[in-house]
Amino acid sequence: MEQLMMVILFITLLKGYNQEQILFPPAPINKEVGASVLFTIEPFSQPIKAIRWNFNSSDFIIYSDTESEIIDPQYQSRVVLNHTTAELELKYLTMADSGKYTLIVTFVTGIGIANHTFLQVYEPVLSFGIVGPEGYLIEHNRANFTCMGNGTISSIMWKKDNEILDSSSSITFLDDNRTMVINPLMRSDTGDYQCTLSNPVSSSSTYYGMLVNYGPDVRLLGVQTFEEGSDILLLCLADSEPVPTVTWTVRGVPSKNPFLYVTENSNPSDTGDYNCTCWNPVTGITTSAVQYVTVRWPSHPIYQNKQPTPPPRGRLPALPDKQTNETHIYCTAVG
Ligand SMILES: *[C@@H]1O[C@H](CO)[C@@H](O)[C@H](O)[C@H]1NC(C)=O
Ligand SMILES: *[C@@H]1O[C@H](CO)[C@@H](O)[C@H](O)[C@H]1NC(C)=O
Ligand SMILES: *[C@@H]1O[C@H](CO)[C@@H](O)[C@H](O)[C@H]1NC(C)=O
Ligand SMILES: *[C@@H]1O[C@H](CO)[C@@H](O)[C@H](O)[C@H]1NC(C)=O
Ligand SMILES: *[C@@H]1O[C@H](CO)[C@@H](O)[C@H](O)[C@H]1NC(C)=O
Ligand SMILES: *[C@@H]1O[C@H](CO)[C@@H](O)[C@H](O)[C@H]1NC(C)=O
Ligand SMILES: *[C@@H]1O[C@H](CO)[C@@H](O)[C@H](O)[C@H]1NC(C)=O
Ligand SMILES: *[C@@H]1O[C@H](CO)[C@@H](O)[C@H](O)[C@H]1NC(C)=O
Repeated sequence: MEQLMMVILFITLLKGYNQEQILFPPAPINKEVGASVLFTIEPFSQPIKAIRWNFNSSDFIIYSDTESEIIDPQYQSRVVLNHTTAELELKYLTMADSGKYTLIVTFVTGIGIANHTFLQVYEPVLSFGIVGPEGYLIEHNRANFTCMGNGTISSIMWKKDNEILDSSSSITFLDDNRTMVINPLMRSDTGDYQCTLSNPVSSSSTYYGMLVNYGPDVRLLGVQTFEEGSDILLLCLADSEPVPTVTWTVRGVPSKNPFLYVTENSNPSDTGDYNCTCWNPVTGITTSAVQYVTVRWPSHPIYQNKQPTPPPRGRLPALPDKQTNETHIYCTAVG
């Protein structure tokens, strides 16, 4: 009987003493270098007799209600222990303070509890900029962009025009996203880029305006056949970054003209090749587009006045047109 009592008492003590309890919030604690941490604890319902805090399994502060506090010299002047709650404040944190913190409390009843939590200390991140290739970015080339920064970097994220950028057939991320390789560059890659360094206690972004130079892709807009006396209008459309320089070669003769080529009151001698040549000084590419323009005699009647005309009276001579091998009928009506 006495033996059984002893065993029950022993089991109760054992169970009581090494029992772990919910003392800390479940998640690890994240702090910045230089900051302070307060290990907060669920309040106890009984008075404390002794407290031990240890870091990575070595005690650094010991308190008992009968003796004075013992503090590891390395922690002098940066720990404050609350003897009624067992809460501990640790100041001037360094990276070396990252690790496992175990609290062992003994109550006046002789029962003890213990549990632990983790502290992770981070250097705040700071991003300095995005470094890309020197000089101009040119379509179809390859380019690397590196996000510069320091601190304890947990993740790096890139955005383009405020949208998260994922890898694709032409975009690859290397070195935990520190470097973005675009191969090949496309004109659609032009935009505002951002890289964000982050860790649980800080984040920092930098920006880069990307301009991809391309072209020129040239085409001519305008009708091919004009009637004598009308104005020839040809628009040279150049899709290009930057704006290219334009030169026209009209019927083999260089002609100084802007992108919109205009000849007023044309005549059949204006018939020929209209060649618009564009040069992009950044990509070094020259492209031209050519259109053959025909100016001919009007093929339908022209009336002198714009009012509805009464049907012509009498015969009209049919005149053959020497230039275009067409027959034109000129009708002059008064009415
Ligand atoms: C120790 O505390 C954690 C919360 O920090 C809790 O989830 C865990 O259950 C506790 N351990 C025991 C044995 O009570
Ligand atoms: C210990 O914590 C309790 C509860 O938060 C507080 O009332 C008390 O002032 C603290 N003691 C010291 C010495 O800071
Ligand atoms: C403490 O332990 C953690 C693992 O929990 C380890 O990463 C860290 O380096 C240790 N710190 C020291 C100072 O021993
Ligand atoms: C770009 O990144 C690739 C892959 O890391 C590397 O092989 C190449 O040398 C880099 N180019 C430049 C210009 O940094
Ligand atoms: C990061 O760089 C800044 C500016 O150079 C410096 O003030 C800071 O101490 C650096 N941080 C780390 C963690 O090296
Ligand atoms: C790299 O970026 C992707 C998003 O594009 C993100 O899902 C991933 O977590 C990032 N990895 C690191 C190590 O930052
Ligand atoms: C257009 O003109 C440019 C410059 O004179 C010339 O190099 C090019 O060959 C011409 N293009 C065509 C299709 O005639
Ligand atoms: C006039 O045009 C017709 C058909 O297009 C052609 O058969 C004929 O040879 C041309 N006549 C002259 C003189 O060019």
